[in-house]
Amino acid sequence: MISIIGAGKVGSACALNMIRMNIADVTLVDVQGGLAEGEALDMRHASPSFGFDRVVKGTTRFEDIAGSEIVIVTAGYPRKPDTSRRDLAQGNARIVSSVAQEIARYAPESVILMVTNPVDAMTYIAYRKSGFPRSRVLGMGGILDSLRYRTSLASELNVSSEDVQGLVIGEHGDLMIPLTEYTAVSGIPVKKLLKPERLGEVIERTRFSAMDVIKLKGATVHAPASAVSMMVESIVKGRNRLTVASVIPEGEYGLKDVSIGLPVVLGRKGVEKIVELELDSDMKRRLVEAASSIQSVISQIQQV
Ligand code: 2OP
Repeated sequence: MISIIGAGKVGSACALNMIRMNIADVTLVDVQGGLAEGEALDMRHASPSFGFDRVVKGTTRFEDIAGSEIVIVTAGYPRKPDTSRRDLAQGNARIVSSVAQEIARYAPESVILMVTNPVDAMTYIAYRKSGFPRSRVLGMGGILDSLRYRTSLASELNVSSEDVQGLVIGEHGDLMIPLTEYTAVSGIPVKKLLKPERLGEVIERTRFSAMDVIKLKGATVHAPASAVSMMVESIVKGRNRLTVASVIPEGEYGLKDVSIGLPVVLGRKGVEKIVELELDSDMKRRLVEAASSIQSVISQIQQV
């Protein structure tokens, strides 16, 4: 069973993906009375059309997450057209801190998958407050940036996005780092297919793609929910997919005391492995810069 804390747009879209894709049964939790129950009931009405029986229930009670394999945290204030992910840090830290303690109390064996922004700092807060080992606390960010990078490249090259492979590490924010050296289309290095200026334009579009959606419809929903589903599926089915998650390094890439997007293998234990790639000096410098910037957000929160 998977639990989802927060039955807003992203939380309920995640719940629907879990049952529609036959990934797991879902318990949806929201402090606002009726919201999670109403979403779950609406989804149950759709379930005869799915071809398999998955249980989805809604609740206001934290104790109902007992026995969860994964607890996805989407609760918190969302971004608006005039706010950055970082503007949300203070308010959301309070929510995440109390949610992490509830998870530790009622689902002590679970994996925490953080979605609330700014996700890197929030993942670190959840790690500290839950007391969980680092393999069981991770955040969704880089996988979503990677999906957007692949989408943008596919459209630039007019090829199927399925054939485009590429990872975006670093901060889930302005300091994201697309790994151009490791980007390929059906095995062909992207630099053989695209001039540096056009690759640079694709990267700029990737950086601002979340805000493009927020300006148009107020929030990003489907892409974050799909990214969450990919991560959850890899963990519950032990698929060991190699992707990007916000994780807590202990010396990998020369980093520690932070949560930041790095290449990982996701399997039954949660983070099975942080994959250490060789990076050129510019990429290394940018990764250290992103890590210090996330650390400054974390330390501002902790002072309060
Ligand atoms: C996103 O990238 C808002 O962080 C969220 O869609």
